[in-house]
Amino acid sequence: VVGVEAAIEAFREGSPVLVHDAADREGETDLVYPAGAVTPEAVARMRNDAGGLICVALSNEVAEAFGLPFLEEALDHPASADHDLGYDERSSFSLPVNHRDTFTGITDEDRAKTITELAAAASDPDATAFADEFRAPGHVHLLRAAPNLLADREGHTELGIALAEAAGLAPAVVVCEMLDEETGGALAPADAKAYAERHGLAYVEGSDIIDRLG
Ligand code: 5RP
Ligand code: CA
Ligand code: ZN
Ligand code: ZN
Repeated sequence: VVGVEAAIEAFREGSPVLVHDAADREGETDLVYPAGAVTPEAVARMRNDAGGLICVALSNEVAEAFGLPFLEEALDHPASADHDLGYDERSSFSLPVNHRDTFTGITDEDRAKTITELAAAASDPDATAFADEFRAPGHVHLLRAAPNLLADREGHTELGIALAEAAGLAPAVVVCEMLDEETGGALAPADAKAYAERHGLAYVEGSDIIDRLG
């Protein structure tokens, strides 16, 4: 629980935190930022130090206001007919988007622009005409949190949104998996903790977030 308080405090300051879901789930540690705090340097850190997929999770309410579907419902292709995930009942993927004021969408600057505009939109969803501001497909993967958050699903999507809400921030967080440079697999929790210590970041277990905020 000490870790959870430190993570909430870090979020209030705009700092990233490390969140390990559970050994019996993905077994991944994501580098997680409040979306509003993301700079081009933060995007560079995610692709260099984390190495996974850079995604923005939004609360169910915000995704609903923006008319954002789950991707598996939006895709009309046999590849999306059967969702046999090994670690959960369903994926939280929604559309991949770019802000309309980006060029290719992939540069650190472009992704930071898309991500911070998503945070601004999430802070006032009713004032946002989503399709006027963002285009799909794009280079930032949106994730849609479950309606009852941690009561429904215990993914990084919901863990991150719970932290943002506890910190009093807009329900928009960036998550990116920490991968091991040598093996290419998920970074082991001990190594993720060592990274957190080296960089003065909070490391928190999903189970602690669920105990405190679930
Ligand atoms: C997208 C993912 C990540 O694991 C991310 O953490 C979101 O997924 P989940 O909510 O299922 O943990 O696969 O790169
Ligand atoms: Ca690297
Ligand atoms: Zn995850
Ligand atoms: Zn993952």
